Amino acid sequence: PSLSSIFNISDFEYVARGILTPNAWAYYSSASDDEVSLRENHYSFHRVFFNPKVLVDVSTVDISTTMLGSKTDAPFYCSATALAKLGHEDGEKSIARGCGREGVIQMFSTLASCSFDEITDSRVSPEQNQWFQLYVNPDRTISYDLIEKCDAKNIKGIFVTVDAPVLGNREKDKRLKFEDDANIIEEKGDSDKIDRSQGAAKALSSFIDTSLTWKDIRDFKTRTKIPIVIKGIQRPEDVVLAAKNGVDAVVLSNHGGRQLEFARAPLEVLSDTMPILRGKNLDKKIEVYIDGGVRRGTDIIKALCLGAKGVGLGRPFLYANSGYGEAGVRKLCEILKEEIKTDMRLLGVTKISELSEELVDTRNLKSR
Ligand code: FNR
Repeated sequence: PSLSSIFNISDFEYVARGILTPNAWAYYSSASDDEVSLRENHYSFHRVFFNPKVLVDVSTVDISTTMLGSKTDAPFYCSATALAKLGHEDGEKSIARGCGREGVIQMFSTLASCSFDEITDSRVSPEQNQWFQLYVNPDRTISYDLIEKCDAKNIKGIFVTVDAPVLGNREKDKRLKFEDDANIIEEKGDSDKIDRSQGAAKALSSFIDTSLTWKDIRDFKTRTKIPIVIKGIQRPEDVVLAAKNGVDAVVLSNHGGRQLEFARAPLEVLSDTMPILRGKNLDKKIEVYIDGGVRRGTDIIKALCLGAKGVGLGRPFLYANSGYGEAGVRKLCEILKEEIKTDMRLLGVTKISELSEELVDTRNLKSR
């Protein structure tokens, strides 16, 4: 179907399902066990309703904001996903170009299918903002080299993923033996260690250290001036610990439901976290991001009302890129921007900074 028949983010998933290989679909769409957290991530947004203001002049609305101190055109970003080439031959390069043209930040993965340089060289302007997602390798020198590379390539944030010391049980993916015809994974490290017996996720797992602790985070902080962000925090107490360890920001995330099954929805964790941070005067010290299940402008606005600085999307970017490459990525960004603008107008706000908890009814969300 042509791009003109795409009206919303879910349309991209529908198209991708029809065109992806069974391997790619299984890897992209799968989540752990019975996929309860996957569904909850999305459904949690349905438990929040709006209290809109009326008779506000909404003729102009500005959806730009800042993340990690840099300006960005929209309050959402592309979250890191491995192996974009399984869906489109340009892989992370077309995601980079699409995001760049839309002024949207791209976070790319340690396990991206294109090389670091290919992805940073795909910037459409020298100022294009990219973040790097770090999986910490059992061989620390590999990770240190990557941090140095981030400095050299003007990366604006390093997101250390901490929710994947081992991989979640993704059965859809496991049922298919991983066939890496294009040698996508081969180049990432010691190919002798790769386990190809079950799915793409298993094949990638040898690159991730199971022994990572807060000490490593403090160590990374001393090695670069780039903001260090912890991705995959799942409880308010760990956000407090992150702030106390000098971390610049956190992403509340359960990895799109792909890791611990019955991990709570990030939106819920967010609504527990912000009051605790405010109570400890830490809310100005650390930025909080969330990802998982975001498919509409309203989802993004709800998270911002609850205190998130920005909101990430994973699968939607993969699906849009798989179907349409750069043009699909642009369309995805355009759709979300338009939805956010329309919804902010209907909500009676004209700037991201005006989004606050008084605009949402969270009675069906709060657990503590
Ligand atoms: C991911 N995610 C992920 N996260 C990360 O830190 N490093 C990675 O390499 C990957 N790879 C990856 C592959 C695929 C196929 C998916 C679906 C996800 C998690 C990702 O960054 C994000 O947390 C979730 O995708 C958010 O959920 P949604 O938006 O996909 O619902």
